[in-house]
Amino acid sequence: MILVTGGTGLVGAHLLYHLIKNDEKVRAIYRSEERIEKTKKVFSFYTDDASLFSKIEWFKADITDVPSMIPAFFDVDKVYHCAALISFNPNDYREMRKVNIHGTAIVVNLAIDAKIKKLCFVGSIASVGDSLNGNLITEENEWNKEADNNGYSITKFGAEMEVWRASQEGVKVVIVNPGVILGSGFYTTGSGKLFSQVYNGFKFYTEGITGFVGVTDVVKAMMQLMNSKVKNERFILVSENKSFKEIFFLIADSLGKKRPSIQIKPWQTAIFWRFAWVVSKFTGKEPLISKYSARSAHSISKYSSEKIEKRFNFQFTKIDEVIKEVGKNFMEN
Ligand SMILES: NC(=O)c1ccc[n+]([C@@H]2O[C@H](COP(=O)([O-])OP(=O)(O)OC[C@H]3O[C@@H](n4cnc5c(N)ncnc54)[C@H](OP(=O)(O)O)[C@@H]3O)[C@@H](O)[C@H]2O)c1
Repeated sequence: MILVTGGTGLVGAHLLYHLIKNDEKVRAIYRSEERIEKTKKVFSFYTDDASLFSKIEWFKADITDVPSMIPAFFDVDKVYHCAALISFNPNDYREMRKVNIHGTAIVVNLAIDAKIKKLCFVGSIASVGDSLNGNLITEENEWNKEADNNGYSITKFGAEMEVWRASQEGVKVVIVNPGVILGSGFYTTGSGKLFSQVYNGFKFYTEGITGFVGVTDVVKAMMQLMNSKVKNERFILVSENKSFKEIFFLIADSLGKKRPSIQIKPWQTAIFWRFAWVVSKFTGKEPLISKYSARSAHSISKYSSEKIEKRFNFQFTKIDEVIKEVGKNFMEN
């Protein structure tokens, strides 16, 4: 039996489809029934066969709550740990520590206890270090704990440390470190927001560069690594390094919308995040932009996925193709 955490999120939902299609026996944890509908929607992008979705064994549990998680591990021999809280809002830091670090520690402890065969953890490029010499960033670049890191990056690094602990305590682990993941079905959270924003006429873009990858490639790599002999290694998953300008333009084209036309300079975002911070203190609402999202909009970080490409002859889908597909599904729904 395979256990999937985060099956009601972007990565987990697409993963569940591919596992079920491969005839795997799968249990997925969930917190609320309405979120399960999101996963059902994702299945509908792939197939009209409703029987596939009904093969998932849903189990109500919260990764931060040990008593709810213990029975979820019954008869489990493989775990895909995709659940996490993704946020650039500094107010979410405590909750991110709880879900991402403490929650992963609970998953790891139960995995050790259940003597599972293998654990796949979805990390992030946020927990890989920067390049010091301008070369492409690889799995060897160590995360710098002295830097002014954002809360998400700190907690993803902490979660990864918990997974390495599992490897020291007898569990085989594989870690994937994807770039920004683009995929269908989730348009109000995470990277999916980019599609909603452009659809709603967002006019601005920045010239920052980062790594992007399609969700289908992420789940295929995870399954390939889990079904291989590879253990205790991490793999960056980035199809292409692109600027936010290029990504926004591709998204606008895929939705048949006007391309954003106003370039925002670093000094403008520097003013704007401070203003948004003050507004959020008065309104109590999440700031529209934080210091860290402002910074990442302009930073230039380029990643290499040569390790997985060479080891498995893995071929990533081009980002313009990924965006065309997601844009099509967005418009149809
Ligand atoms: N999206 C990206 O661009 C990106 C890039 C790199 C790495 N990642 C990593 O990929 C993984 C999956 O991300 P995603 O994009 O699929 O995120 P997502 O769409 O926001 O989904 C997050 C999932 O985690 C679950 N979750 C959160 N807190 C939980 C808790 N306390 N107990 C149980 N489940 C909980 C959510 O459940 P509910 O539905 O109940 O909220 C949801 O299923 C994460 O580890 C993330 O850090 C994402």
